[in-house]
Amino acid sequence: MEITLLTDAYESVVTDVLVVPVFEGEDVETGILQVLNAQSQGIIASLYERQELHGKANETAYLPTNLAARRVLLVGVGKAEKYTANQLRQLAGTAVRTLAKKGVTQAAILLRGDVPPQIATQALTEGAILATFEIGSYKTVDKEESKLASISIIVTPEQLTTAKEGLRVGRIVGESANLTRELVNTPSGDMTPSDMAACAEKIADATGMKIDILDEERMEALGMGALLGVARGSNEEARLIVLEYAHPDALESDAVALVGKGITFDSGGISIKPSEGMEKMKYDMAGAATVMGTMRALGYLKPKARVWGIMACAENMPSGTAIKPGDVLRSMAGKTIEVINTDAEGRLVLADAVFYAREILGAKKIVDLATLTGAVGIALGPVYAALLGTCQQMIEELIVVGRQTGENYWQLPLDEEYGEQIRSDIADVKNSAGRPAGTITGAYFIREFAGDTPWVHIDIASTAWYNENKPYISKGPSAIGVRTLTQWVLNMAN
Ligand code: BES
Ligand code: MN
Ligand code: ZN
Repeated sequence: MEITLLTDAYESVVTDVLVVPVFEGEDVETGILQVLNAQSQGIIASLYERQELHGKANETAYLPTNLAARRVLLVGVGKAEKYTANQLRQLAGTAVRTLAKKGVTQAAILLRGDVPPQIATQALTEGAILATFEIGSYKTVDKEESKLASISIIVTPEQLTTAKEGLRVGRIVGESANLTRELVNTPSGDMTPSDMAACAEKIADATGMKIDILDEERMEALGMGALLGVARGSNEEARLIVLEYAHPDALESDAVALVGKGITFDSGGISIKPSEGMEKMKYDMAGAATVMGTMRALGYLKPKARVWGIMACAENMPSGTAIKPGDVLRSMAGKTIEVINTDAEGRLVLADAVFYAREILGAKKIVDLATLTGAVGIALGPVYAALLGTCQQMIEELIVVGRQTGENYWQLPLDEEYGEQIRSDIADVKNSAGRPAGTITGAYFIREFAGDTPWVHIDIASTAWYNENKPYISKGPSAIGVRTLTQWVLNMAN
């Protein structure tokens, strides 16, 4: 989809559809609504009278008009005082999805309100691009193809320069998040650890980033028994993928590793999962896919930062060679791990990947993302991802950035008392502590391998895949984390 900026007066913009945001409680008798009402045979006033339009978030009204535009799409955006980037993202998403359903090919969105133009344009661009993603990529019939090919954003001449920058960033972030969603949506047969590595290579080529792909032989030499243990049941070879983005002026003390769980299929292994819903376990690499999308965005945005994107990719399968409950694995850190449940595999691959980040790469900060526990869905549902860690400052930064980027995180506690639950009788730690506080004990396990490096863990198991459509994200992969982590790194770089 092409997105451009226009500085014409909205009355004279020649377009198929002029999209106008409407605030809740806005007066029909004054300002732009008065003009639009007069140019559309008083329909807007009658919609208000009949209480069919209030300006509430994501309400729409599609009207004929006598302006240069053929039609107007009014989109409710809620109260003017509460108008932020989040509402703009929704506005663009609602507009794109509504117009695509109507077969419209071209539209213009009018920028209104107090949100600074760069932030507003970025949010509109992100929302529009995110709204174009559909999960039916394997359909050969009845494929819903949007004809909406071009969108203009109408700004004032004074807003043009900053809006341009917003458009540039919004496009990179939106397209990177859609890459993440495509990776997550692709079935495991077509998205193996090697396929993930091939994707990372393409990104490295396109952006000029460094890449290192560790195969099983190299992981063996490093002693990554935990990660390799998970891969042992599968015919697919594991890969530890490391993308490196380095700006020459970056602060060494901010060198950060983003580590993603990349289980391309989680059958549970010998502790096999029930078959109902197992098809969804293709999304168990969402953490790694989020790292991939974030690294793509950073590779194009080129902030003054140093970032490693580490993707711990393996397939968790049952077989005659698979690890079994009771087995003890030796991690790269030297800690021994009793496998209680082969379905608690995410923490095993992350143990070695997080240790590699701190010990070999020398990361000064670590954020890991993982579809780690079903328990997080019980605690927070599909609304918030859980966030836990050893660095309260990073935790708070990420929560704030998340609020701005429209991705929600809620902190869970990580007191040392929880650590007692993962002590093993036979080894140093065990990989499952049963049902109580499942998200916390999962995080605690990873903490053992992060040591004293400031570290945050984000459990995206209940938020990486939406079961319903949202204003700008369709049912399916959400790419949660891409916008937050990209913005968090940009903030650090400034
Ligand atoms: N990938 C799953 C987490 C998951 C479960 C995500 C259900 C979405 C829906 C993870 O590998 C897993 O199986 N976790 C276990 C851990 C347990 C055995 C300690 C879980 O949550 O049941
Ligand atoms: Mn599992
Ligand atoms: Zn898993």
